[in-house]
Amino acid sequence: MSVRILALVGSLRAGSHNRQLAEAAVKLAPAGAEVALYEGLAEIPFYNEDLDVEGGVPAAAAALREAAAGADALLLFTPEYNGTIPAVLKNAIDWLSRPFGAGAVSGKPVAVIGTAFGQYGGVWAQDEARKAVGIAGGKVIEDIKLSIPGSVTRFAETHPADDDEVAAQLTEVVTRLHGIVDAPAAV
Ligand SMILES: Cc1cc2nc3c(=O)[nH]c(=O)nc-3n(C[C@H](O)[C@H](O)[C@H](O)COP(=O)(O)O)c2cc1C
Repeated sequence: MSVRILALVGSLRAGSHNRQLAEAAVKLAPAGAEVALYEGLAEIPFYNEDLDVEGGVPAAAAALREAAAGADALLLFTPEYNGTIPAVLKNAIDWLSRPFGAGAVSGKPVAVIGTAFGQYGGVWAQDEARKAVGIAGGKVIEDIKLSIPGSVTRFAETHPADDDEVAAQLTEVVTRLHGIVDAPAAV
């Protein structure tokens, strides 16, 4: 059975370059791995403990939890907004972090990559995402890193899947995450 990797994208815009990176990862997944791009983060209300009660969890949040619970690993794609993680991704992590100690990301390998316009490719946002998802219970794979600068210009005409360097980097990311799920003792 394939290793299931759930891709969450921290940008909602239709032309998002992070979304394009995730699309490329779907295409480039090696044999034995399947990357599923999660749709529906926009529909999830802001995390609210009053809603997070039996019978009260919004359907969109429950669907995210179910998708994460069914995945073997998560791959987060994030741009950087004002030096940090976009709210949409933080909100998803918050929903995935509860119930405390038993959230849907608990113990699952999680890698964070992405592209941003700035010269460092969004490393601050990626570091914040690693911190948050680690506190949420995910097993952050710290040494899987890919931060691509100049998103807006680099991918203006070229989809990341058609950029040979990026395609090779993405293939390596997915292959390594796949390998970690297959051989967790190696981490
Ligand atoms: C609200 C906002 C804040 C941004 N702040 C940063 C930033 O702090 N650092 C950076 O490198 N780029 C920043 N950018 C530019 C984004 O990195 C760039 O537009 C990126 O391509 C957005 O991701 P997307 O293409 O997946 O939507 C910002 C963009 C927006 C819309």
